[in-house]
Amino acid sequence: MSFIVAIDGPAGTGKGTVTEILSKKFNLINIDTGATYRCVTLDMLNKGIKLEELDKIKELLKNLQIELKVENGKQLVFLNGKEVTKEIRNKEVSGLVSQVSSIKEVRLSMVDLQRKMAEGKNVIMEGRDIGTYVFPTADVKIYLDADLEERAKRRFKQNVEKGLTMSYVEVIDNIKKRDENDKQKEIGALKVAKDAEVIDSTSMSINEVVREISSIIKKKQKDIKMQEKIYRVRKETAWKKFVRKLVKVTLGVVYRIAFRVKITGQVPDEGAYVLCCNHINYLDAAAIVLFNKRKVNFVAKEDLFQHGILMWLGHLFDVIPIKRDMQDIDAMKRCLKVLKNGELLGIFPEGTRKGMEKNMKAKNGAAFMAMKAKVKVIPIGIHGTFKPFSKVYMNYGEPIDLSGYTKDNLDEATENIMDTIVMLTKKED
Ligand code: DC
Repeated sequence: MSFIVAIDGPAGTGKGTVTEILSKKFNLINIDTGATYRCVTLDMLNKGIKLEELDKIKELLKNLQIELKVENGKQLVFLNGKEVTKEIRNKEVSGLVSQVSSIKEVRLSMVDLQRKMAEGKNVIMEGRDIGTYVFPTADVKIYLDADLEERAKRRFKQNVEKGLTMSYVEVIDNIKKRDENDKQKEIGALKVAKDAEVIDSTSMSINEVVREISSIIKKKQKDIKMQEKIYRVRKETAWKKFVRKLVKVTLGVVYRIAFRVKITGQVPDEGAYVLCCNHINYLDAAAIVLFNKRKVNFVAKEDLFQHGILMWLGHLFDVIPIKRDMQDIDAMKRCLKVLKNGELLGIFPEGTRKGMEKNMKAKNGAAFMAMKAKVKVIPIGIHGTFKPFSKVYMNYGEPIDLSGYTKDNLDEATENIMDTIVMLTKKED
């Protein structure tokens, strides 16, 4: 798995400097995509190829070799084996590069190269279209901006330090032209990605910008680690089985002290079933898991795993985390695997607590899973106030066969399940 930080924005916003610092700080490979377009431009200038000579440009692209290397902590650019780090920033290249980078063939070829450079690696990439086109699924997207005059001042100072000759007027004129051209490109135009963090660096120091981006990267890395922890499937071992049994017995005793649990019916001894229950309290899922003779693999929203003890219990009881705001294909695959293995899958069709009370439409996921895996649904009606020492009724119904439904009438299948559950919630004895 690679980690990708995209730093986009117009010229002179400090992208290069910030990217270099961050690459060292977070041990990320620094890919300056602007340098790749500059190399093509320099090669064209060296070979006397004009912008309109497309055949010659295509030929040039076929034989082009660009390498970005770090030597003694400095990023060096090599074009066809020759070091061109300074040369690609000269006046001629800077004046032409934006137009060169607008040529479709150049763009496609460079984007391909940039993607290959990043393949399977942890990288920080600076450019114009990284977050929008090269890596639209980048982990962190930053759009660095600043006022035109401030950017021109910075670029002028940078040029002087690098020994490049360009007047301030030339620099501001060049940046202005490039901004316009970069925003109008057919492919990979300069624009803010929808999910990018915009940072205006006009009155910020480099250190302040670095600090702000660092905290965004750190937060993302922390989130990714958490996701990995939540989604890592823990293998079934004898020890896990033993601990599960112990926890089940212990929590079962505590539960029965807290509530007077009345259960009618049960699940068959063998075979795959989807257990569907109404959801009034977190404790209803616990009741199904603790007082079932078989293991029930429940589906639960991933937020449940954010808390240490709940994450531990979730993994112990093989709870399947699900992202609720999207079609979670991985979770669906895990659910189907459970059913294929002949096990029990627990789902609350209401999708949330007291969904029925809130008049929310039940979700079709349970019916879909049952139909896809060709298994029956066991409805469970639960009711009680969950006040200490009160009665909690848990009524298991007869398995529901959904083979008469198709994916076109999932709503009806779900209604059938929910109607049966509602009937079971009324049963007391
Ligand atoms: O970042 P830079 O100034 O070295 O970029 C040189 C030119 O290359 C700039 O005018 C825009 C273009 N470019 C681009 O179109 N897409 C990128 N991802 C990076 C640079």
